Amino acid sequence: MTRIAIIGSGPSGMAQLRAFQSAKAKGLEIPEIICFEKQSDWGGQWNYTWRTGVDENGEPVHSSMYRYLWSNGPKEALEFADYTFEEHFKKPIASYPPREVLWDYIKGRVEKANIKHLVRFNTAVQHVSYDENKKKFNIAVEDYKNQRHYVEEFDYVIVASGHFSTPNLPVFKGFERFHGRILHAHDFRDAREFADKSVLLIGSSYSAEDIGSQCYKYGAKQIYSCYRSQPMGFKWPKNWSEKKQLVRVDERKAYFGDGTSAKVDAIILCTGYLHHFPFIEDKLRLRTHNCLYPLDLYQGVVWEKNPRLFYLGMQDQWYTFNMFDAQAWYVRDIILGKISLPNIMEMQHHTEKKHLEERALSTDEKKARFQGEYVK
Ligand SMILES: Cc1cc2nc3c(=O)[nH]c(=O)nc-3n(C[C@H](O)[C@H](O)[C@H](O)COP(=O)(O)OP(=O)(O)OC[C@H]3O[C@@H](n4cnc5c(N)ncnc54)[C@H](O)[C@@H]3O)c2cc1C
Ligand SMILES: NC(=O)c1ccc[n+]([C@@H]2O[C@H](COP(=O)([O-])OP(=O)(O)OC[C@H]3O[C@@H](n4cnc5c(N)ncnc54)[C@H](OP(=O)(O)O)[C@@H]3O)[C@@H](O)[C@H]2O)c1
Repeated sequence: MTRIAIIGSGPSGMAQLRAFQSAKAKGLEIPEIICFEKQSDWGGQWNYTWRTGVDENGEPVHSSMYRYLWSNGPKEALEFADYTFEEHFKKPIASYPPREVLWDYIKGRVEKANIKHLVRFNTAVQHVSYDENKKKFNIAVEDYKNQRHYVEEFDYVIVASGHFSTPNLPVFKGFERFHGRILHAHDFRDAREFADKSVLLIGSSYSAEDIGSQCYKYGAKQIYSCYRSQPMGFKWPKNWSEKKQLVRVDERKAYFGDGTSAKVDAIILCTGYLHHFPFIEDKLRLRTHNCLYPLDLYQGVVWEKNPRLFYLGMQDQWYTFNMFDAQAWYVRDIILGKISLPNIMEMQHHTEKKHLEERALSTDEKKARFQGEYVK
């Protein structure tokens, strides 16, 4: 029987499980599906943990979410087509829910679909390779619960392991001398730690804006944020000042590109994440930065050089859950033979064209619309 491996049971992996289950419920024959998940529960980023560093099995902690995180996009823009907020909560809810509410919603759909038994929890994928002779993937995993290492063969692999977990950690002159705490947004959990402190945020995107706002709300004395390319440019409260790029620090002070300096107690690197797939052999490994149309992925999901391999959710995300659904439905239909793919040259040509189109987008609104068109 054809075997499919899904790596990760975050929202993308869950979307893929649900896509196959929905085909099965309509009477279609589907392949055998096994989802490997290194954490002890599904939900990916939404499976919040107090831990930082490594988890109970010594694996890098996956979630970058913090205790008081609220959705930064309206729930109307991420609602599942086949499972509404109204169906789940039985009443209308606010547009910007807190983390726990969205997690509850995501879980609701897959619990209803009864597919949790397809996930092997506490099982980290350690190596994925492709055997050209057999036309099969070999997946080596560590099963932490049963203290067992094993390898299995698959016909298709779907990588849904996320890309907001491995911190991008630039270094600035003087970091080794600084007396305060230096951390990445990935390890930020609770803003109360920074009450009465002067905090410097490096970066000018979502994490800088949201972590800075949390620090402000929970009583930071002073906030500085600094940008490399574009300032956030909001109307800041009196104790928040936006500066040009950090140049260096000494024991207690930060020095900025505009020639000013400030005493700071802690530095939070809100400098984004790396696409990091150390478990995938080189010829199958996606290498990209955080963008809307990565090269090498036809229609954003098909690994062009071996179209039995797929990546879900690898784009920068204006859209999330419904985009993962669209991708998962598309991948399912390729595997079930309902959609046929063009040859590699045509796939590459199409992807390069879309990649260049993205590079020409000059505003956030254009980027959001570009991804909206993609999801359609
Ligand atoms: C701080 C933060 C806040 C966010 N807030 C929002 C928001 O408000 N709204 C929104 O819509 N989106 C938000 N997002 C975007 C978020 O990325 C998506 O909502 C969603 O979680 C992505 O789903 P995913 O399944 O692709 O990846 P993930 O959620 O990252 O899940 C990947 C899964 O793969 C597993 N995995 C990884 N490596 C392995 C391995 N080797 N073996 C086995 N399993 C593995 C992980 O344990 C994890 O369960 C936020 C992201 C971050 C970082
Ligand atoms: N409440 C929420 O829902 C919430 C909160 C936080 C994050 N998130 C999500 O988390 C994801 C990641 O967001 P993110 O803000 O962490 O990452 P991001 O959007 O990739 O932004 C990274 C930031 O780091 C800056 N940067 C990178 N390298 C740098 C360097 N060497 N020096 C200075 N600045 C540098 C970038 O500047 P340039 O512009 O110069 O590249 C950019 O401002 C997003 O999907 C977001 O929606 C959600």
